[in-house]
Amino acid sequence: MYTLTLTNIISLLLLLLSSQGSHASATPNPEGSSSSSLDLSKRQAITRKYCNPTTSICYLEYSWGPTVPVFRIAVPDSAASNSNFDTLLQIIAPASLGWAGFSWGGGMTLNPLAVAWPNGNNGATVSSRWSTGRTLPSVYSSAKYRTVSASRNSTHWMVETVCSGCSKWNNGGLSTTGVNTFAWAVSQTAVSQPGNSGSSFAIHSNIGMFSESLDQAKVPRAAFEAYVKGAK
Ligand code: HEM
Ligand SMILES: *[C@@H]1O[C@H](CO)[C@@H](O)[C@H](O)[C@H]1NC(C)=O
Repeated sequence: MYTLTLTNIISLLLLLLSSQGSHASATPNPEGSSSSSLDLSKRQAITRKYCNPTTSICYLEYSWGPTVPVFRIAVPDSAASNSNFDTLLQIIAPASLGWAGFSWGGGMTLNPLAVAWPNGNNGATVSSRWSTGRTLPSVYSSAKYRTVSASRNSTHWMVETVCSGCSKWNNGGLSTTGVNTFAWAVSQTAVSQPGNSGSSFAIHSNIGMFSESLDQAKVPRAAFEAYVKGAK
């Protein structure tokens, strides 16, 4: 029969401690909350909770590597699955991209798509789209995007937008308790008419998907509403 001696207990504790240590170091290195979130050394999909130190808004953040935008999403914590609620989306895109798209339902077709591109020195256009096939998606008027902020510099363009109509759609919607699949698409080619949300654009050069719960995307409802209030 196995008896717990002091030595046994100590080696058990050491084993637990060392296995925790190696587990932590095997996890993809989560970046800090500053501009290091665009670390050039990173080339794999990472999802984590990101809190903006200035606004205190926390998001579910997805990043893949330097050629793909960082996508951040947030929802009011009171939101129920498959109901109407506003959703926040921030896209921080490398300057090399002509457009970046985000799919709220995890694929190209039959779910709301956000397609964003830079427009002018510090502006961006966010276009609401829907596609029934794998061709240029149509304008989707059941979802509306309002811009919280947009900016552009020599390395990146960024837009943060709030959507009304992206949480629920024909035959689908976001789950606030279970796992959701999201997807993205990007192209290096600039859109034909940057100032026109109905612009046409060329097919993506890269696409990806990820599945996550919205647990890390939940913002206290009052803070969420205050944050998106001035969006136009
Ligand atoms: C001119 C516009 C577009 C064209 C012609 C187009 C065409 C296609 C085609 C042919 C495929 C299947 C082949 C492949 O995997 O490459 C595909 C897949 C995909 N597209 Fe697009 N696409 C366009 C815009 C978009 C946009 C704006 C988004 C997202 C916002 C998007 C997201 C996806 C995703 C996630 C897939 C893989 C999953 C799936 O097939 O549903 N596409 N697209
Ligand atoms: C450029 O913009 C991105 C996105 O807003 C930001 O993360 C980055 O710090 C900016 N770079 C400089 C040099 O200001």
